[in-house]
Amino acid sequence: MPAVGPHEMGWGSYLSAVKSVLPSTLMSQAGSNFEFVPRMSEIAREAGALLMGYFRARVKIEYKGDADLVTEADRASERLILERIRAHWPAHDVIGEEGARIETGGDYKWYVDPLDGTTNFAHGFPVFCVSLGLAFQGMRKAAVLYDPARDELFAAERGKGAVLNGETVTVSKVAKLAQSLVGTGFPSHKRHKNPNIYFYHQLTLRSHGVRRAGSAALDLASVASGRLDGFWEFNLNAWDTAAGILIVEEAGGTVTGIDGKQLEITDRDVLATNGLIHAEMLREFGEIFAGRGLEPLPDPRAYRK
Ligand code: IPD
Ligand code: CA
Ligand code: CA
Repeated sequence: MPAVGPHEMGWGSYLSAVKSVLPSTLMSQAGSNFEFVPRMSEIAREAGALLMGYFRARVKIEYKGDADLVTEADRASERLILERIRAHWPAHDVIGEEGARIETGGDYKWYVDPLDGTTNFAHGFPVFCVSLGLAFQGMRKAAVLYDPARDELFAAERGKGAVLNGETVTVSKVAKLAQSLVGTGFPSHKRHKNPNIYFYHQLTLRSHGVRRAGSAALDLASVASGRLDGFWEFNLNAWDTAAGILIVEEAGGTVTGIDGKQLEITDRDVLATNGLIHAEMLREFGEIFAGRGLEPLPDPRAYRK
């Protein structure tokens, strides 16, 4: 135990000191009564190991659109995940990015991204994951995201907290956008229709920076674990977000549409934050949508020597 009490050293430091001397099994109450996560984690780890085999071998790239990539690894991972879900939960519906469709109108429905971050994966850039989200009657119920390159497994169940490799995770405490690190993403499909570069520019000037890591699911996991203070993206799919949103919410964060409205599972424009900078980010988005207070982009010709 720490030599001095919380009044001498402050509650934050005291709790950190207590945490450093207690075994993780005692600290981590979140997740101790997870119902779906244990089996989901096995499936995600198996799919992640399969992805790593392809990653090391550098798989061949195919195209769904002009810059919309897919690889044999995406399909093999989805086949494996679908087989495991069918074996363990034969009555559940499944939607997978690479074509899995089992839709009986049942209560449980899976949203599967067998490889989120395909462009990174295909170029050998090690930022990608397996994303498994389970909904019950249209509500996000359980979630697992597995990053096999870092061996990091994020998981949550509604009302039961969020964990990273079994340890409780929480969002950051940064309370001002000007002191935040935020993330965003750009689609590979219909790129010319996406307005996000304007938002990227404005938010870059109003924060510590905007990261574009290339995996929306891992971006959400980064918000949940306090590595990012906020994340937004337009036009995502439910397989990108179903798991990550629940993990952010269970880690104490806030997730809405970019207009501030509550998000249904298939809504496509997402703002996820630590909660503390949410209102400020919504205000900034409102201003940018209205075209107010925009910093003009500098003319590139001014840089020509
Ligand atoms: C993509 C990634 C990327 C995001 C794109 C998604 P995929 O998913 O999450 O970060 O910006 O919008 O489509 O195609 O790699 O599964
Ligand atoms: Ca995806
Ligand atoms: Ca994918």
